[in-house]
Amino acid sequence: MQNRSFSLHNSQSTCCYYQNQAIIASFVRLIQKPMLGLKLLTDPRWANIAESNLEEILTDHAWCEQKAATNAITLITQNSEHMDLVEELTAIAIEEMQHFQMVVDIIKKRGYTLGRERKDDYVGRLVKFNRRDGSRNSAFIDRLLFAAMIEARSCERFRVLSQNIKDPELAKFYHDLMISEAGHYTTFLNFARKYTIDIDVDKRWKEWLDFEGELIQGFGNREAIHG
Ligand SMILES: [Fe+2]
Ligand SMILES: [Fe+2]
Repeated sequence: MQNRSFSLHNSQSTCCYYQNQAIIASFVRLIQKPMLGLKLLTDPRWANIAESNLEEILTDHAWCEQKAATNAITLITQNSEHMDLVEELTAIAIEEMQHFQMVVDIIKKRGYTLGRERKDDYVGRLVKFNRRDGSRNSAFIDRLLFAAMIEARSCERFRVLSQNIKDPELAKFYHDLMISEAGHYTTFLNFARKYTIDIDVDKRWKEWLDFEGELIQGFGNREAIHG
C-alpha cells in the first residue's frame, strides 16, 4: 500500500521507518477513540454478508476507490487557487487509483470479474445534504466535509471487515486501507478548517455526523462497502 505520508513496503532508513510507525500509530489512535466521531458503528454481522459474496463486495469496493479519486480531482479543478490543496489532493487521487488497482488485482488473482460500476445509494443521500444555497466558500467547505464523511465511514467499514472477515489476506488488506482512509479523513477535515471564511466547521461537521448517524441506520444489510 502506498501513502504519500508513509509507505509500508518501500525500503526505508531506520529514521523513516520509526516516523512512519509513529504516523500509523497516530492514525490507529484517531480511529479508536472514538471512531472518528461516527454516531453509529456497523453491526459486525455485516462483514459476514460481505464475505458471503466476495466478488460483489470487491467490485463495489473497486468503484468506491474510483469515485474517491474522481471526487479529489473535482475538488482540485474547482479550487485550483489553493496550491497546497492541489498538491495533497493530487496525491490522494493517485493513491485512490492505486487502491482501485489493488482491488482489481485481487479480483483477477481470485478468478473473479470486475463488474460494472455500482450505484452508491448511501453517497447519493450524502450528496443531497451538501449546501447549495450559500456562498462559494460554504459549498467548498461542505464538499470537503462530504469527502471527510465518506472517508470516515469507509474507514469504519474497513475496520469491521479487517476484524471480522475470515479470509486472512483480505483481513490484512482491509486493515492497511483503514489506516490510509483515516489519513484522507484528516486531510479533508483539516482543509475545511483552514479554508473556511465564516463557516463554523466544528458545528457544521457535527451536523454532518448527526445526519449520517440517522442515515446509516437504513444500511448495513448488503454486500457493498456503504451498503
Ligand atoms: Fe481508498
Ligand atoms: Fe480515501
